[in-house]
This record gives sequence, C-alpha cells and structure tokens, in this order.
Amino acid sequence: MTTEFTRISAAMSGEDLESIERAATVIRNGGLVVFPTETVYGLGADATQRAAAERIYAAKGRPADNPLIIHIAAPEDVERYAVTSPLYYRLAEAFMPGPLTVVLPVRDTIPRTVTAGLPTVAVRCPSHPVAAALIRAAGVPIAAPSANLSGSPSPTNAAHVRDDMDGRVDMILDGGSSVIGLESTIVKPEEDGTLTLLRPGAVTPEDLAALGIEVRLAGAVMHALRPGETVLSPGMKYKHYAPRTPFYLWDGDSAKALSYLKDREEKAAVLCYEEDLALFLTVPSLTPISVGSREALGGFASRLFALLRECDKGPYTAIYAPLPPPHGLGLALYNRMIRAAAHQIITL
Ligand code: TXA
Ligand code: MG
Repeated sequence: MTTEFTRISAAMSGEDLESIERAATVIRNGGLVVFPTETVYGLGADATQRAAAERIYAAKGRPADNPLIIHIAAPEDVERYAVTSPLYYRLAEAFMPGPLTVVLPVRDTIPRTVTAGLPTVAVRCPSHPVAAALIRAAGVPIAAPSANLSGSPSPTNAAHVRDDMDGRVDMILDGGSSVIGLESTIVKPEEDGTLTLLRPGAVTPEDLAALGIEVRLAGAVMHALRPGETVLSPGMKYKHYAPRTPFYLWDGDSAKALSYLKDREEKAAVLCYEEDLALFLTVPSLTPISVGSREALGGFASRLFALLRECDKGPYTAIYAPLPPPHGLGLALYNRMIRAAAHQIITL
C-alpha cells in the first residue's frame, strides 16, 4: 500500500483542516492513520469496526492478546462504549484531556478484537490538538496503540513512524515531536475506590495521590513478571521498547559508573545527565549523550525513545544509562528502561 505522508501544524490552517478531513474519511472507511499525540504517535483505526481494528494488529505485528486503547474527544464521549463511575469523572476532571488512560468495563459497542477479549476497555482523551481534531472529525472513538513495530521503541516523531510504518498504513500525519515522549499512565479503578497503576507515565502516582485516591502499583511496574504472577495489563509481559544494540543500566553514582566503563574495550554510547557530561567526556572510547538535567527528568522522558533509536544507527557496541529514581516521572522512565535493557542492571 502507498502511504500518504502529510505535515500538519497545530495552528490548524485551512490546509491542515483539509488533511484532517481526509484522514477522518480514511478512518471512517476502515483504514489506518498514524497521528501525533502529546505522549507518542498512535496508529489509529475506527474502534467500532472489527476489521479495522484487526488491521492495526497486522500492521504492527502485535500479538492478538494485547488490547488497544480507545481515544475519545471528550471524557463524556465514552458513555456509549464503557461503564463510567464518579471516580472516572474525578480523574477526567483532573487529568483529561492529557496523558492518563483509564480502564473501564466495556459495552458491546466495542468489538472484542479491540479489548483482546477482556471485559474492560482502556480509554484516553489526548490533549494534542491534531489528535483531538481527528477524533472529532471522524466522529468515532479511535483505537490506537503506539505506532511502532511491536517490540521496538515507541515513535516520538514522524521520521520514527516512517521507519516502522511506511507501506503499512494509509496515512501518516506529521505533527512534529511528541512533547512528553513516554506513553500515557494507565490506571484501573477498583470497586473499593482505590486505583491500580498498570503503567506509569507523566501523570505520576504522586499526582494521583494528591486527589486523595489510594494508588497501588501493579507488580509488573517495577520488575519483570515473576513465574505464576498474573498480568493485569497484557502489554507488560512482552519485551518492549528495546533497541537492537545491547543496553545496560547502572545503579550507583556516576563516578563509579565511569570507573566501571573506562576499562572496557567498548565503543559505548553513554546516556548521562547534563551534569555528568564532562566526566564521561574524559574517556575517549565513550560517547556521552546528554539526557538533560537530573533535576528535571522531563528532558530525559521526551528524549529516551528517540535516543535509543539514534544509538541503534551506530557505531556503538553497547548503550549504557543510569537507572532513574523510581518516583515521580522517574518511575515511568524506570519502568520503560528496565524493559528496554531486558533487566540487565549493573549494581555498582
Ligand atoms: O500514550 C499512549 O497511551 C499511546 C498513545 C498512542 O495514546 N498508546 C499506547 O498504546 O501506548 P499501546 O497499545 O502501545 O499500549 C497500551 C497498553 C498495553 O500495555 C495494553 O496491554 C494496555 O494498554 N491495555 C489496553 N487495554 C487494557 C485493558 N482493558 N486492561 C488492561 N490493560 C490494557
Ligand atoms: Mg506500545
């Protein structure tokens, strides 16, 4: 299939609106459109058409038991598709539109292909103006996983999408770089009024707790699934986000990391905090790349997936990075990085 590639600015000029209309028609006709969101790019199809949803799994090479998130234009639009609760609307009031996904009991308006047969559906209302305009114009909820081939890092710009999806989708809307760079936070409201955090993101456990809601972390957030452990969010059991180059994390301070790395005969890329750039530059075999300040992890979050893709282009035999602190936005980084590194952590 030939993929139409269209630049689109958030300002939404007349030409941009025409592109949105064309993309909305593709969606209504059961086709695939990649669109920008504030987290990562999404690979979208009409969530109410079974055949359209099936095309998503085929284009990504995604296992059929890993369900999709449906994207809506306004929190109340979910009523036709899922069963809401006062807790849902409290979360919506605080965090929608934005990087929060809520798992709700599904209605039969959503085909089982989308939910992978689960009795629940994951719902998100993105804040990116292009995403919001596309969903409105399509007039249907849009099922969309991240627009990468299954297993590779999520795409945070249209060049990443083109690398993975050219020829596999009808249309790619290029809206520039994703501001957040990590996928949305996923929570599941429980009957006792608490939340289970299935996937950490830019809405942090601290943000949720500030609403006075008790939050519990699902096991797979902080570690690999243990034998016999039930997976609450199917995506967490797959190897994920991984670069092809061997990727290692160090747990310890940067001075110790330097002495560990300096004697290894490796041409390694070192993702490091801005504050440590000069330190790693002292070793000729290492190529330090700044992820921004350790005091503001937003820079690291927005660049992580792009850097992993870049480092894969070479000439490195290994990639190293510090294990981020597992709280605040650091928890989302920690969760993605232990998977990307296939749990290879060097304790210093
Ligand atoms: O930021 C995001 O959430 C991006 C953008 C495009 O919106 N989407 C995204 O989708 O990350 P995806 O498919 O890459 O990740 C969705 C995750 C998977 O881990 C999946 O298992 C989980 O959501 N999920 C979907 N439906 C679920 C459900 N009913 N119960 C539990 N987990 C669910
Ligand atoms: Mg994904």
